Amino acid sequence: MPSHDTLLIVDFGSQVTQLIARRLRELNVYCEIHPYQSLTAERLTQIAPKAVIFSGGPDSVTRAGSPRPPRQIYDLGVPILGICYGQQVMMQDLGGQVEGGKISGGGGTAEFGRAYVTPTDKRIDLLTGWFLDTREQVWMSHGDHVSEIAPGFQVYGTSPNAPFAITADLSRHFYAVQFHPEVHHTPNGKTLYENFVRLAGFTGDWTMNAYRDEAIAQIRAQVGDAKVICGLSGGVDSSVAAVLIHEAIGDQLTCVFVDHGLLRQNEAAEVVAMFRDHYNIPLIHADEADLFLDELEGVTDPEIKRKTIGRLFIDVFQKHAGDVGGAEFLAQGTLYPDVIESVSFSGGPSVTIKSHHNVGGLPEKMGLKLVEPLRELFKDEVRALGHELGLPASFIGRHPFPGPGLAIRCPGEITRDKLDILRQADAVYIDQIRRHGLYDEIWQAFAALLPVRTVGVMGDGRTYDYACALRAVTSVDGMTADYYPFSHDFLGETATRIINEVQGINRVTYDITSKPPGTIEWE
Ligand code: XMP
Repeated sequence: MPSHDTLLIVDFGSQVTQLIARRLRELNVYCEIHPYQSLTAERLTQIAPKAVIFSGGPDSVTRAGSPRPPRQIYDLGVPILGICYGQQVMMQDLGGQVEGGKISGGGGTAEFGRAYVTPTDKRIDLLTGWFLDTREQVWMSHGDHVSEIAPGFQVYGTSPNAPFAITADLSRHFYAVQFHPEVHHTPNGKTLYENFVRLAGFTGDWTMNAYRDEAIAQIRAQVGDAKVICGLSGGVDSSVAAVLIHEAIGDQLTCVFVDHGLLRQNEAAEVVAMFRDHYNIPLIHADEADLFLDELEGVTDPEIKRKTIGRLFIDVFQKHAGDVGGAEFLAQGTLYPDVIESVSFSGGPSVTIKSHHNVGGLPEKMGLKLVEPLRELFKDEVRALGHELGLPASFIGRHPFPGPGLAIRCPGEITRDKLDILRQADAVYIDQIRRHGLYDEIWQAFAALLPVRTVGVMGDGRTYDYACALRAVTSVDGMTADYYPFSHDFLGETATRIINEVQGINRVTYDITSKPPGTIEWE
């Protein structure tokens, strides 16, 4: 079994706990997020962390029964860093005092937003590279505050509303800060994490180069000489998983690429060429466009479209995978964010905005065991691993593409003609974005073909053609997004090219809706 120095992040339910993990992974430190409820003394022994971070959280430590880590965590003898709620937990657990916040009225101590921390005259290793400009901007987001620090702690930084902004007990290597160093609005936050992992003795042993070899060994150990099937979508995750597994077990792997006829221009041919010809991975190209498009005829409701595609996809995948014969494993490109158990405080079910298309349920249906070699990785690590495996940079950096494909970019009824028009418009748009060097700045961009035809004039003639909408967003994880601020010149040039080069479109609009209230896709 591979063994890395592990940093344990105890999750108290902050919205930004994953960001802590990402900051640490960027420093080549392996970390795991565990909800506070799951941590028993036994679990702590298994994880054997070399350091611990307490995340922030929405609760108040002044409330009886609020989240706490197991007491044994303080006896592990390893450095601990408490952040926001984590600071308050640490203070209260170790004998200090926390007061509830007064949000309104005079003398309020709650603090939300930018604040400036200034140092005391004592310097500590945690703050190497801090306070070069006398004060540091930090992001505060707390109702409660520490009113008395625990015995053994001293203050190393203060802000107007947080006299105990940075505290530490140097003899035990316990550190506690009131602000959030993991967010973007604490510009020097990364340095603080760097200092913490250095003083905790991490050597930066988590790299994708090393991970590749370990993952290969693990896959071989798990699979033995059994056969594995992998559904390829053309996306980065399933592709990296497939190439990695192929390196591990060669032709024991067969990929099944379900072509539902809702892919972008040349996409199917490119996927087949890359995997079959370039990587020599046995690949079944299931060209089932007719099946999907016939079944979708006349369907206009977005949820029925999604459900139809999801159902057919599973049937088709099952049929073709069955042809491989004797496969025991199904490979999936599951990532770490899908695996992290979240701390839920609301308890209630959340509303389904869109039913996402995935192959969940397939392993049970087909009686297959799962191989998920990316389970420990974040998306940026998957890209780095793809790079290690020699996948082309242009492929690794591709924007996300939804499972139901162009079906959800063609609101209303889908026809083969409309899909053709959409493919061409999308190709021109993406070409424009690449030519202007904007592709990597944008998180996702695509064209949608609107179900309206409008009147135009070209040359001396009247036209009556479709309108298309262009979408481009910046985002971190697709959960929220802002529209990308293209210049008017860029938009004008792109509209002209689309109308000139794509027969069937005579009007182009740019979608300037953020998410929320919009979603990224149109359906
Ligand atoms: P929305 O439209 O919900 O999209 O704002 C957020 C992100 O998810 C992608 N998306 C999907 N991905 N299966 C997927 O694999 C789906 O059914 C699906 N629907 C949306 C979308 O492209 C965007 O990146």
